[in-house]
Amino acid sequence: MKSNNKNPEIKMTNVKKNATPTLEEIEARKIKLEAVGYPFNFNYVESAQLEISDKKLFEEYAKEQWLGLEAKKGGYLFDQKIVPDYGFKILEVEPENSIITEDTKITLIDNKLTVKEEISPLKYQISFDDIIGQENAKNKIKIIKEYMEKPELFGQWAPQNILFYGLPGTGKTMLAKALSNNLNIPLYLVKATSLIGDHVGDSARQIHDLYESASKNAPSLIFIDEIDAIALHRQYQSLRGDVSEIVNSFLTELDGINPNEGVVTIAATNNVGFLDAAVRSRFEEEIEFTLPTEKERKEILQKNIETMPIKININIDKVAKMSKNMSGRDIKQKILKTALHHAFSQEKTEINMKDIEYAFKQSKVKIKNEVKDMYE
Ligand SMILES: Nc1ncnc2c1ncn2[C@@H]1O[C@H](COP(=O)(O)OP(=O)(O)OP(=O)(O)O)[C@@H](O)[C@H]1O
Ligand SMILES: [Mg+2]
Repeated sequence: MKSNNKNPEIKMTNVKKNATPTLEEIEARKIKLEAVGYPFNFNYVESAQLEISDKKLFEEYAKEQWLGLEAKKGGYLFDQKIVPDYGFKILEVEPENSIITEDTKITLIDNKLTVKEEISPLKYQISFDDIIGQENAKNKIKIIKEYMEKPELFGQWAPQNILFYGLPGTGKTMLAKALSNNLNIPLYLVKATSLIGDHVGDSARQIHDLYESASKNAPSLIFIDEIDAIALHRQYQSLRGDVSEIVNSFLTELDGINPNEGVVTIAATNNVGFLDAAVRSRFEEEIEFTLPTEKERKEILQKNIETMPIKININIDKVAKMSKNMSGRDIKQKILKTALHHAFSQEKTEINMKDIEYAFKQSKVKIKNEVKDMYE
């Protein structure tokens, strides 16, 4: 794919013209590019991320090959030399539709910035009232609220790192979202596995970028989900390969946070016993999330039923009893959702106990199969 390709879907830059603009043409003062990679994927071509070590040199190189081309915002320029067909998107051009000359300033946005954009804070619409039960956890995080409002007051007594642990689907992620929403502060919700890079140094840089961005946007909350995936106890590291680089960078960042800054890290795991001892010791508080009681299960059922798309005619007390040892997620996904789908598949206009019983039966089959898979 060369730059004279006329694919209407992609605004391509024009065919090469004279290096000196004619009277009707305007000279580009500056253009800003983003490296976007190849326009196609081949199995044997790694969709490599370009690393430009010398920006000045890149500018000279770029100018030399794109001299005389017309630059349009949203268009593309393709490298023809070292990495043929590697694409660059034109993010800005001044003035619009102008010609690249010897004097055009060509800048390339930092790839590191793209990484940072990926880990930008998010906003959620969850409130504390949406979380049924977990009163202990809700109480314990009150201190974070106080701290975020007046970080300078706390100094060395600041809450900094808090660990949520407990069975899957009990509301850990929900509580972190509600906290950030309630305080109206940015939340960096990061799945720990997304911090594992392909190359040495990738993880350290990502973790560093994450903390740098959180500090810049402080007060802010970092929520690292499934932390055991990266900060695995040494005893289990052989299962996952070497994660010491990640553990070390994580410790460096945790220790480097200034308590006056207002950055709190909450990490979540299903099992604290899997955690690296040094990482675990950095968390001043370990908060357990428990399975809902019968009364809480009833509340979870009621809350979810309110939002269902068809009528529901079931004995909630009975379903609350039947769902012993199930988490909030199980009740929602395995029981209510399956019952709803079953009712739909039978072309019914309401969900009744038959659908619920079907869902319980299905969930037992699923559990049995999961256990079987573990031993096969
Ligand atoms: N305490 C609760 N109150 C109301 N709904 C709940 C509760 N716990 C879980 N749920 C339901 O289950 C879903 C999943 O909960 P959440 O993602 O917070 O679980 P988690 O503890 O983070 O699980 P995991 O350990 O697998 O990450 C929620 O979106 C919600 O619908
Ligand atoms: Mg979670």
